[in-house]
Amino acid sequence: MTPATSLFAPVEADLQILADNLKQLVGNRHPILYAAAEHLFGAGGKRIRPAIVLLISRATMLNKDITARHRRLAEITEMIHTASLVHDDVVDESSVRRGVPTVHSLFGNRIAVLAGDFLFAQSSWYLANLNNLDVVKLLSEVIMDLAAGEIQQGLNRFDASLSTETYLQKSYYKTASLIANSSKAAGLISEASLETAEHLHSYGRHLGLSFQIVDDILDFTSSTETLGKPVGSDLKSGNLTAPALYALEEKPDLEALIAREFAQSGDLEQALALIHDSRGIERAKELAAHHAKLATEHISILDPSESRQALMDLTGHVLSRLY
Ligand code: IPE
Ligand code: IPE
Ligand code: MG
Ligand code: MG
Repeated sequence: MTPATSLFAPVEADLQILADNLKQLVGNRHPILYAAAEHLFGAGGKRIRPAIVLLISRATMLNKDITARHRRLAEITEMIHTASLVHDDVVDESSVRRGVPTVHSLFGNRIAVLAGDFLFAQSSWYLANLNNLDVVKLLSEVIMDLAAGEIQQGLNRFDASLSTETYLQKSYYKTASLIANSSKAAGLISEASLETAEHLHSYGRHLGLSFQIVDDILDFTSSTETLGKPVGSDLKSGNLTAPALYALEEKPDLEALIAREFAQSGDLEQALALIHDSRGIERAKELAAHHAKLATEHISILDPSESRQALMDLTGHVLSRLY
């Protein structure tokens, strides 16, 4: 998938360096761990998170070049993200990621869990070596949040009484926390003011929420070919996301189907039909747009630059994935 390429123009050269570095950083401690990690970094992803870190770095270092620490932060961010995907695919029993077979489907669950742990541990080591305690605190909180989010999601499966607030909190833990904290960390490395750093955190939080809501909508509306990962799996596995939660408010019949975990034949199809027949997807789009707008407001406090413009346009790009 080649997204956002023109959007990332101000950091295109930086992203090329990042791609080369990521493979080297994983090292070759053990051939299987190396193979597992290289497999995912080689397949690439949209690289949205490191692009955000690099754009914020450039937007907060206006008349100076970005530093090796900014670059390393971008690499750590993608490493943490990739580790979380390796674990997420084990939990979700997903067979495809980034258009290639998942680590667990190639090497088995044991190796996949260990490979994910290895990537988390290694990112912590690189993080510590940035020698910036505030940044260490921000990013280690993310690693806790990721696990908390997965656990919360696991505990809430098939719970039709789940509130939108709880859904958004889980989405913050699983997705927005990394974007928010790495955005703020980039500002801290640039020695931006605390006030600016807070706006960067809010930008990342709202953009991350918007991104996850869009991902959740695409699970209902897109295809495996387009996304490079399976679709239609959230509802089936009881992971109730914005479209389903909104649909529940309109379609009381949905509740019984969810409560019996789609046990009878035709249940899942019926549930999907009810959701598509409701305003669920439309309202989820409005929720994503709401958070995208808030993200734009927070980033607009930076001085104008090509990179700030790209960060503002990124909020629209996230929504445009729906069309
Ligand atoms: C997938 O993230 C997980 C979510 C937060 C939805 P991306 O869609 O950014 O995945 P890659 O990195 O491009 O593969
Ligand atoms: C986001 O949630 C995954 C993580 C941040 C670990 P999803 O479960 O929706 O991600 P996909 O859809 O598998 O990429
Ligand atoms: Mg998943
Ligand atoms: Mg998803």
